[in-house]
Amino acid sequence: MNRRNFLLAGAATLLAGSRAMAEMKMDGMPGMGGMDAGHDMTAMPGRLPTLPAGAPLRDLPRLANRSVESGLFEATLTAEPATARFAKGLDTRILGYNGESPGPLIEVTEGERVRITFANRLSGEQSTIHWHGVPVPADQDGNPMDPVAAGADRTYAFELPERSAGSYWYHPHPHGKTAEQVYRGLAGAFLVKPKIDPIPAAYGDTALFFTDLRLAADGKMPESTMADAMNGRVGDHVLVNGQKNPVLTVPAHARRRFRLFNATNARFLRLSFGEAPMTIIGTDGGPLETAVLGIRDVLLAPAERMEVIVAFDKPGTATLRTLAYDRGWMGAGRPNDADLKLLTVKVSKTPAGSFPPLPVTLRPIADLGTPSVSRRFVFGESMTMGASGMEMGFLINGVSFDMNRVDVVSKAGQVELWEIVNPADMDHPFHVHGTQFQVVETERAGKVAKPSYKAWKDTVNVARGETVRIMLRQDRPGPRMYHCHILEHEKLGMMGIVDVKA
Ligand code: C2O
Ligand code: CU
Ligand code: CU
Repeated sequence: MNRRNFLLAGAATLLAGSRAMAEMKMDGMPGMGGMDAGHDMTAMPGRLPTLPAGAPLRDLPRLANRSVESGLFEATLTAEPATARFAKGLDTRILGYNGESPGPLIEVTEGERVRITFANRLSGEQSTIHWHGVPVPADQDGNPMDPVAAGADRTYAFELPERSAGSYWYHPHPHGKTAEQVYRGLAGAFLVKPKIDPIPAAYGDTALFFTDLRLAADGKMPESTMADAMNGRVGDHVLVNGQKNPVLTVPAHARRRFRLFNATNARFLRLSFGEAPMTIIGTDGGPLETAVLGIRDVLLAPAERMEVIVAFDKPGTATLRTLAYDRGWMGAGRPNDADLKLLTVKVSKTPAGSFPPLPVTLRPIADLGTPSVSRRFVFGESMTMGASGMEMGFLINGVSFDMNRVDVVSKAGQVELWEIVNPADMDHPFHVHGTQFQVVETERAGKVAKPSYKAWKDTVNVARGETVRIMLRQDRPGPRMYHCHILEHEKLGMMGIVDVKA
């Protein structure tokens, strides 16, 4: 395909495959119209690119299993520079897994073994793949302590335990570079399917993977600013499966199952389908005990996931949009976060077939029992004068992350109560590797609130002025990270290591 065809193909198409891209660039390089247009755009500061909207919602590309052995999923994920076409006439250099951003969706089944070879083809940057939320051994979890050098390969191998079904994701986790590699495009969905799915197949199963893109007038992704360092990098375009406000068409009275992934660096997504009511059926760590009906909006902090069923009873249009949420913003330039249209659902007049009801119970969720240890983690924000001006620091218990320091020593199998205290000015979504936890209660100004349903989670928002208490147990030994999942805060120190002893 020559460059002209690519240009005509237009609209937010992700140009997959770095080899194809490289060829295209060769053909198209000297004196092509597209390039000139790009230069003209640069000369007009403030004219930010508009992204075409309204294309049919695409399914995320899937990572193919090359294993012939049953019960084994085997594949390669290559992190590499790629080129995407988000806006007409503008090439954007991104980072992709196998040339794609979002990366290919990995679909595996509980009980299966997984062997994924990671090929780091980023130029001059180390990376890792972290399997966010998936129960994997510590030395397979892509921690910053286990970097994969540029040009090197490593194979991650783990077995998915029984009853580990859930909506997880994967992203890089190298020291100091996670935030940048993620906003440049490296993140993908990791679905663990149950052997027997309690949700009727008629509801479908659609992943909606949210990322947040900032494009300069010339189509490049600009470097992060001081405001990004403070607040986390918020983009200009929230994309769903890499698309701006795509369209999904459903029959009248349809019930649809959506898996929502907040894979943005720092955007809080308070989501609503408007008139169409939602039923929550799952969180970070898989299904709830029982479905929670009649929900109008849900808040997904960075890294959180949720599974919902949406009922589309009214013919016409139902829009998935954001509602206002004040997550605390430092300085000027608070981005508009309300009324962003993320997905347009066209509900036709023709009714669909019948939708069997949801089962009453989805699965049991065990209590963790009585904790034998309690720990306290206090978030802090600091501002100091450094060589290059004001420098923000983000701290847990007064210290900044140090890869060579163990902050907490724990024991495998031990039930612990963790109290996460946020006296700071911004919300901080707290995440722990290696396990799922249960939220026990939230305290604000002396008032304690219990969660309205029992759930397994690996990330919980700790709003400013709030204390959140969680119960957890690490079953596998080894060092595990815990951190704020605003990735710029993680980068600037808001992370620690819990070393789990056998
Ligand atoms: Cu989503 Cu430490 O990770
Ligand atoms: Cu994680
Ligand atoms: Cu934070």
